[in-house]
Amino acid sequence: VVSTVEVWTTSSAARELDALLSDDERVRALAMRGEAHSARYVAAHALLRSLLAERTNIPPARIRIERRSCVRCGGPHGKPFCADDPSITFSLSHSGDMAAVAVASSLEVGLDIEDTSRKRGVARLAAKTLSDRERLFFEASGSEDACFFRLWTRKEAVLKATGAGITRRLSGVSIPPDESTVNFEGVWTLTDLSLPGRYVGTLAVEGSGAAVRQREWTP
Ligand SMILES: CC(C)(COP(=O)(O)OP(=O)(O)OC[C@H]1O[C@@H](n2cnc3c(N)ncnc32)[C@H](O)[C@@H]1OP(=O)(O)O)[C@@H](O)C(=O)NCCC(=O)NCCS
Repeated sequence: VVSTVEVWTTSSAARELDALLSDDERVRALAMRGEAHSARYVAAHALLRSLLAERTNIPPARIRIERRSCVRCGGPHGKPFCADDPSITFSLSHSGDMAAVAVASSLEVGLDIEDTSRKRGVARLAAKTLSDRERLFFEASGSEDACFFRLWTRKEAVLKATGAGITRRLSGVSIPPDESTVNFEGVWTLTDLSLPGRYVGTLAVEGSGAAVRQREWTP
């Protein structure tokens, strides 16, 4: 049986979506500075909760999403998981006005999307975050912004899949720029997603052989 990973994206800013959130998430959304920032947070969590609701038959706002322990300090702010059914695996990312969620079953997943129009400081960021091998690849591209964001989302997707997140010096982590199977604290299959407009994204899935389906969510 082939496992399937679904990747859902949305740019909805519908205010009614906050009815799908937990009380804590609603408070967090209200406290955010900037309407756009808050709207994409609401959309991301509404999307995640409606995907989990379909799979658990629990109303979206009542699903318990908890955090694993942080790999660095053990504190309660590691990778999120569904406490009602931990076999449902997911990863959430938001950038610009897009929100995206990858969801699977019993396979760790990591998703990162980036709005490439946030161009300020790319050269500095590249110098600070790329490994030697990644930097050579970036320079060979003519130091293209698009190339940097591709390398960045590949690295972040893997770090989010492992649950580590950004807890170490990023230049010390090297993800092969042009291979679909990478070995980093386990074997991961990377899929460079094709997203609309100015967005770049990468999905990391545990092991190999899973099918990836990409869909747009219209609430
Ligand atoms: C996870 C992380 C890489 C995401 O960075 P980002 O590009 O700014 O944001 P994205 O939109 O792609 O992802 C954010 C989502 O990742 C998820 N996430 C958070 N921590 C995660 C982790 N350790 N592993 C996987 N996913 C994680 C959450 O769902 C979060 O969404 P939310 O904040 O709306 O709930 C970054 O926030 C991070 O590294 N956090 C951990 C920092 C940390 O723990 N430091 C050590 C403290 S001791």
